[in-house]
Amino acid sequence: MNKDLRVTVLGAGNMGSALMGGMLQAGVVTRQNLCATVKSEPHAVELAARYEVRVTTGGNAEAAADADVVIVAVKPGYAMGVLNEIAPRLKPGQVIVSVAASLPIAMIESALPFTLPVFRAMPNIPVVVGEGATAVCCNGSATGEQRDLVESIFRAVGVACFVEEDMMDAVTALSGSGPAYIYMVIEAMISGGVKMGLSHGVATRLAEQTVLGAAKHVRETGLHPAILRDQVITPGGVTIVAIHELEKHGLRSTILSAIESATLHSRSRTAVLAEKLKHEHKPNDK
Ligand SMILES: NC(=O)c1ccc[n+]([C@@H]2O[C@H](COP(=O)([O-])OP(=O)(O)OC[C@H]3O[C@@H](n4cnc5c(N)ncnc54)[C@H](OP(=O)(O)O)[C@@H]3O)[C@@H](O)[C@H]2O)c1
Repeated sequence: MNKDLRVTVLGAGNMGSALMGGMLQAGVVTRQNLCATVKSEPHAVELAARYEVRVTTGGNAEAAADADVVIVAVKPGYAMGVLNEIAPRLKPGQVIVSVAASLPIAMIESALPFTLPVFRAMPNIPVVVGEGATAVCCNGSATGEQRDLVESIFRAVGVACFVEEDMMDAVTALSGSGPAYIYMVIEAMISGGVKMGLSHGVATRLAEQTVLGAAKHVRETGLHPAILRDQVITPGGVTIVAIHELEKHGLRSTILSAIESATLHSRSRTAVLAEKLKHEHKPNDK
C-alpha cells in the first residue's frame, strides 16, 4: 500500500460508503487520507462518526483538489454536475473513477479541463458485505500502475475484472442487476421449502447457504457448472425429477433471455443519457 495515497469519495451513499469501508479495512488508504462528500448534514455527521474520516456536505471541488484518486459515486443524473464543479480544481496526475451507471467515459472526459486517466466501473450491491462483483474499463491515458491501483480499490469489496467499455451494458445486465435475480431464486426456494412444511427460518438458512455454497463450489473447483450439476444427479433420483421440471419451464433459457433484454435496455438507456447530458452540459474548453 502507498501510505500517502489520498482518496476522495464524492457522494458517499450506499456504493460510496461501502467502498470507503472496504478501502479502510483492506488498507488501501488511511483514515487521515480518505475524505468524502454527501448532500445532507445528518448523513455527513453519521458517516464521519462511522469511519472516523472527514466528511463534508458539498464542497466537492475542495475535497477533490488534493486527492490522488477521485471517486464519483453520486447518482448518474448528478455526475456531470459534480464533474463540472470539480473541474477547475483538478490537477494533472489525478485519477478519476466513476461508478455512475450508463455514464460513458467520453462524457466524463468532456467535463475535464485536460486529459486525465478515467476509469468507469460497474460494481454491484453485495459490495456492502465485501462480496461485490465489479467490472472496470478505462481510457487510453491510464497506466498499468493506475489500473492496479483502481483494481485494488474494487478488490477491497469483492472481485474485480477489466473489460472493454462496449461490454459495460452486458456487465450491467449480468452482475449489476444479477443480485436481484438471485434474490428471487432464494425467495422461491424458501417458498418451496415452506410449502413442503419447513419453517421459514430453516428454509431461509438452507436456501441462502445452498446458493452461497454452490457459488463457492463453482469458483473453487473451476469446473463447468454443468459438470457439477451432473454430479448431484442420481439416475432415477430426486434431483433429475426437479431438473426436468425446471427444463420444462425454461429456467436456463429464461435467465439467458433476461440478460439479453437487460443488456439491450441498458444500451438504449446509455444512448439516451449521453444525448440528454450532451445538451445539458457543454464540454469545458480545452
Ligand atoms: N447501488 C447499486 O447497486 C449500484 C450499483 C452499481 C453502480 N451504482 C452507482 O453508484 C452511484 C451511487 O448509487 P447509490 O446507490 O450509492 O446512491 P445513493 O445511496 O443515493 O448515494 C448517492 C450519494 O450522493 C450524495 N450526493 C447527492 N448530491 C450530491 C452532491 N452534489 N455532492 C456530493 N454528494 C452528493 C447523497 O448524499 P445524501 O446521502 O446526503 O443525500 C448520497 O449519499 C450511482 O451513480 C449508481 O449508478 C450503484
